[in-house]
Amino acid sequence: MDLTRRPRRLRQDGLRELVSETHLHEHDLIAPAFVDATTDERVPIESMPGHERVPVSEAVARVEEIQETGVESVILFGIPESKDSYGSRAWAEDGVVQRALRRITDETDAFCITDVCLCEYTDHGHCGVLEDSARERWERAETDGGAAVGEHGESNLTVDNDTTLDLLGKVAESHAAAGADMVAPSSATDGMVGAIRETLDGAGYADVPIMSYAAKYESAFYGPFRDAADGAPAFGDRRHYQMDPANSDEALREVELDVEQGADVLMVKPALPYLDVVERVDEHTDHPVAAYNVSGEYAMLHAAADNGWLDIEEVAYESLLSIKRAGADLILTYFAEDVAETL
Ligand code: PBG
Repeated sequence: MDLTRRPRRLRQDGLRELVSETHLHEHDLIAPAFVDATTDERVPIESMPGHERVPVSEAVARVEEIQETGVESVILFGIPESKDSYGSRAWAEDGVVQRALRRITDETDAFCITDVCLCEYTDHGHCGVLEDSARERWERAETDGGAAVGEHGESNLTVDNDTTLDLLGKVAESHAAAGADMVAPSSATDGMVGAIRETLDGAGYADVPIMSYAAKYESAFYGPFRDAADGAPAFGDRRHYQMDPANSDEALREVELDVEQGADVLMVKPALPYLDVVERVDEHTDHPVAAYNVSGEYAMLHAAADNGWLDIEEVAYESLLSIKRAGADLILTYFAEDVAETL
């Protein structure tokens, strides 16, 4: 047996760190924050221990808490005071995200990203405008108990792609006007990046970058977020607009389209169950790659830790390190603050 080659030699204290291939920094991390127009107190999010929905009056304090840990970037999600069929509170000048953003950008120097989508703002919870037929069937189902589209496993097209594009442009413009440093469209609408780029450029926001949720999967790992942001679809599911978890060639096509349309940063979401996609996207493009370590990934580790089965600090760090090792440059994660404090 030849033992001249011994990988263990590099694993000694002092040397292990010198040869370490992946490093996690607090400036790689983006912390999600929830601003809620329906409350004047902080409300804990049960399925996401340590996270809260905060009223607009607490938005600055929330962002300052994040910055104290060394994390400088946040992504804001809003829970509006009311919802309608088009999600019009998503682009209102006095909308919840717009009001919070003005305060945050006035009073802090945090880098503020906004999620551009309609699902938290529409009464039906889908990420865009409903087709008339889907709306009619849903309304009928609500009144006389018939089946709404998607209830029997059918996967009809319920969201009108092209009408939604104009609305996403308005949302992005209103965020930029309120001070957003970067916008992140997450509605999985075909052409969303191009539509937003055109609107922003036309409105004088050519310098506001777009981080596209380029490879966004129709994932069951978003469950806790949908409770937190009150954005679950009232009927059906999102499989006719978000990606099929079975595919990764398709992720590269999505990425190419977004690059052609002017995306600056490309995101893969979720992260841990899709590390193969993170790696492929990283190899496929020279744009920065972001990965979203989503609510379900956070909740499951906390649930195991609460049972005493896992050490939360260690599994959180290992998770984020793995996401970086797979090729992500930026990580959106609910662990941002806790991990940053240990770095
Ligand atoms: C909005 C949006 C969602 C998430 C981020 N933006 C929900 C969804 O697509 O259903 C999920 C984030 C998470 O689970 O942490 N479309």
